[in-house]
Amino acid sequence: MGYLSLLMSAESSAPVPPAVSMDNIVALAKRRGFIFQSSEIYGGFNGFFDYGPLGAELKKNIRDCWWNDMVRRREDIVGIETSIIMHPKVWEASGHVAGFSDPMVDCKVSKQRFRADQLFFAEVLVANVSAGHSASFSEKPSSAISYEKIGYVSALESERTKEELQEKAAQLKRKKGVQGLLGDVQMKDFTAATSAEVPLIPSPATGEPGSLTEARSFNMMFQTNVGAMTDASSVAYLRPETAQGMFVDFKNVWDTGRVKLPFGIAQIGKSFRNEITPRNFIFRSREFEQMEMEYFIHEDADWSKCHQEWIEWCRQWLISVGLPESHLSLYAHPKEKLAFYSKGTVDIMFNYPFGVQELWGIAARGNYDLGQHAQASGKPQEVFDETTKKKFVPHVIEPAVGVDRILLAVLCAGYAEEDVKDDKGNVEKRTVLRLSPRIAPVKVAVLPLLKNKEALVGRAQALYKKLQRRYAVFFDDGGNIGKRYRRQDEIGTPWCVTIDFETIEQPGDTFTLRERDSMAQRRITEAELFALLEEHVY
Ligand code: GAP
Repeated sequence: MGYLSLLMSAESSAPVPPAVSMDNIVALAKRRGFIFQSSEIYGGFNGFFDYGPLGAELKKNIRDCWWNDMVRRREDIVGIETSIIMHPKVWEASGHVAGFSDPMVDCKVSKQRFRADQLFFAEVLVANVSAGHSASFSEKPSSAISYEKIGYVSALESERTKEELQEKAAQLKRKKGVQGLLGDVQMKDFTAATSAEVPLIPSPATGEPGSLTEARSFNMMFQTNVGAMTDASSVAYLRPETAQGMFVDFKNVWDTGRVKLPFGIAQIGKSFRNEITPRNFIFRSREFEQMEMEYFIHEDADWSKCHQEWIEWCRQWLISVGLPESHLSLYAHPKEKLAFYSKGTVDIMFNYPFGVQELWGIAARGNYDLGQHAQASGKPQEVFDETTKKKFVPHVIEPAVGVDRILLAVLCAGYAEEDVKDDKGNVEKRTVLRLSPRIAPVKVAVLPLLKNKEALVGRAQALYKKLQRRYAVFFDDGGNIGKRYRRQDEIGTPWCVTIDFETIEQPGDTFTLRERDSMAQRRITEAELFALLEEHVY
């Protein structure tokens, strides 16, 4: 016990975690086998990713938690799994063929393509100080001061778009040798550029004006052909959302699923969008996984109350898989930006290293989708109300979230670098991933203190085999115990159990349990270990 007890007393934490950067996350994801670029040996494929051994476990755990909480642990929700390629008429009826598009801009010189709403520009105005007015840097253009427009600047959306535009404005003023005070840039996105402004706005790729096209709509659905012919009659689409599967199968579930309103249909599956600018690692990719649920309610039900309840349910669920409440916020879409059929959409936002961004959208969609499919297919989607003896098309509340975005959020929220002391009192760095035990890829690491002591290894193997029947566990007998703890810290393993001499020499068959977050250690029996796991892993 000597070595271990030294380690117990010496290992103490002074957590001063630096602000996590995307570079930290991408490096850890690659180093420890969470996420790789797709087709990396061929240089990668923009917007596509592979999940390595730990990433695949983590992703599966997120899916399983959602499915268990959303479907199995509720009486009012059933799960389905629909095909990725559906009849092309589905996407005409849903509005995706006509309207699932992003505005895009091409740079004719660099051949790069940008999303117009992520490309920002600003006029560069210089105040004429000789007219006797004083203009400060931050002063907004006003009619009291005469300004000269010396050109335009542009920048792609980032955490510091405005600063970048301001810096470029100062450079342009210097380049043109104009005297006077520079006005504060008023940035707009490219969708607001007039036809007269388009040729004057520099391309973010070349820095020169004249090469950008006007914004055009770009449909984001991936097309394919089904069958031997590759003509217009065989065109089909990879689904851009899983939601339509639930609408198209609504009647099948209603007729066979012994369901009654209000009830939900849930699905987890891959979706595909030909994003113009995939970015921020797995945040916006071209192939991703969604977990969506359509909650059907009576046409006279209080949709707003139901909407609020689902927003709170989703928020609490995110907290239950380890996201700190402090990183979550709500964003209600402004009424004027909603689709005509939408009653309201609220996004749960997460504070990623690259800014506060949408994680989970909860939309009140009225009965638009079922109505559209009824009309396009000629198959009524109404249900019968026994009380009023009337038929009606149910309304729906739709919580829709991406698995990859949750996975990125838990990595960002859980990552920390800390200074800790080793057994000799030297300060060293530890990287730790504070993942909830619910989703951690490895729940327990089983570590025999010494590799060459048969009794220790034998007891450790027996425990490992027993744990393995129920949990994802890891056996590690290589290297010193401190290093083995560090390896587990970095992949988010909540507990390590060390089989040491006290286990085999003292009565009680106890192990050392070491907790990832506090690094505290205590002795525990096998029964207590299983009880601990039962409590935290569900
Ligand atoms: N059925 C509604 C729907 O699909 P959405 O807001 O377009 O709504 C729902 O997508 C969720 O899917 C988003 O909140 C996000 O978590 C995830 N998602 C959407 N596009 C994504 C992309 N390109 N990459 C990763 N996740 C994405």
